[in-house]
Amino acid sequence: MQNNLFQKVYISTYGCQMNDNDTERMYSLLEMADYEPVSSAIEADFVILNSCSVREKPVHKIRSEVGLYKDYKKKKPHFKIGVAGCVAQQEKKKLFKMIPNLDFVIGPDQVDNIINILEEVKTAKSKVLSTSFDKNPEYQVQSLIRNPKVSSFINITKGCNNYCTFCVVPFTRGREKSRPLKDLVTDVKNLVKRGVKEISLLGQNVNSYQSSCGAGFSKLLQVIAEDTDIKRIRYTTSHPKDFDYQLACIMQKYRSKICDHVHLPVQSGNSDILKLMNRGYTREEYIEKANMIFETIPGVSFTTDIIVGFPTEEEKHIQDTYSLFHEVDFDAVFAYKYSPRPFTKAAIWEDQVSEIEKSTRLAKLFEVHKSLAIDSCKKYENKILEVLVEGVDEKNAIFRGRGTQNKMIKFTTNEAIAKGVESLVSKIVKVKVIEASPQSLKGVLVNG
Ligand code: SAH
Ligand code: SF4
Ligand code: F3S
Repeated sequence: MQNNLFQKVYISTYGCQMNDNDTERMYSLLEMADYEPVSSAIEADFVILNSCSVREKPVHKIRSEVGLYKDYKKKKPHFKIGVAGCVAQQEKKKLFKMIPNLDFVIGPDQVDNIINILEEVKTAKSKVLSTSFDKNPEYQVQSLIRNPKVSSFINITKGCNNYCTFCVVPFTRGREKSRPLKDLVTDVKNLVKRGVKEISLLGQNVNSYQSSCGAGFSKLLQVIAEDTDIKRIRYTTSHPKDFDYQLACIMQKYRSKICDHVHLPVQSGNSDILKLMNRGYTREEYIEKANMIFETIPGVSFTTDIIVGFPTEEEKHIQDTYSLFHEVDFDAVFAYKYSPRPFTKAAIWEDQVSEIEKSTRLAKLFEVHKSLAIDSCKKYENKILEVLVEGVDEKNAIFRGRGTQNKMIKFTTNEAIAKGVESLVSKIVKVKVIEASPQSLKGVLVNG
């Protein structure tokens, strides 16, 4: 048992779902060791910024947030502030020079050591650095979720071996490792017992999941669908080069459980750019794979990521990205301006695209997609979706949830309001779509 003074911790989280999960894990471990998670920095004795470095000025963002807390040390001499996550791994001890107010820096593989690290920080005369990678060839953890939501996340892999030439993740998260299948099945079963209805399996490239027992990703999906009582399974992210027919067949076969949504980041519609990005597929191969997925899982919701202004990209290349939208029916597109990242190959290439040009291309890309998406999303109108209700805005009695695709749907119902709004949360209900926009859907509850 630790001493109860100075035990309040606030974690500020940036970036992807891996970071959300790491934050949750740190809070769980801290709670088990008698620390107290708090919901704002002002109440805290320790503040941890769980950072992301995938795009644009990450150190700048941390510096600004640390700046907000600069007076806290004057008021509470024991107040300590640290950085975790991908910027911590990327910059290591350099962060202490860049942001002198920091007391500790911990890499993503040190999350499980959070208690020892904070204990050291309490008594250390100097700053504490902990950024080594875990040497264990297998990824062995237990999912720790304090208050699981109706829809919860489970990490199935960590790290990445793909080395896309724009991406910092292989450097910040290390080599790819998978958790054993049996551990994942146990985790899902435990979460089901605690009321979880939907799980999202997370990894930088879930398709290369490989359990020590020999099972790949399709097998993992099949086993979770068959052997557990989870109602819904989602996953993200898949890599186009590794997405195969077998996976599409498994998704179709277990459609009552596995959601019909595929997020397949294309990054560019031009094969020369894809080659320079080291993505491992051409435009034609991507289109062929998308068609295979649409044919095998009719009605599937398909989404993607795109980078504009990758070094060497010219007008003729970006035109190929715009034209891809006419060939593949993307439900949603997440697009970003290329941002040079440390350690990556593309960052030092000479033919960098100007910021102005990147902004122009990004705006055009959104325009092209929007003009198509407005028509495409009409396919949802008048459809009845099986919606898992994830929450409610109690003041206005507007419920929110998702069908088996990925789009958020908001709906109201007088009946549920009469029974108390909480009565619908975490249930699966039928909702008729009355209005569809590219961002979201509006609907009404269907009785019975
Ligand atoms: N593992 C996933 C992507 C993880 S990063 C995959 O391979 O699909 C999420 C998204 O951020 C990427 O799909 C990419 O579109 C974007 N991204 C990554 N590095 C970037 C960079 N240097 N500049 C701009 N966008 C980037
Ligand atoms: Fe980054 Fe590519 Fe790995 Fe995705 S697959 S995390 S983009 S290196
Ligand atoms: Fe960001 Fe690291 Fe995730 S760079 S996107 S927090 S893997």
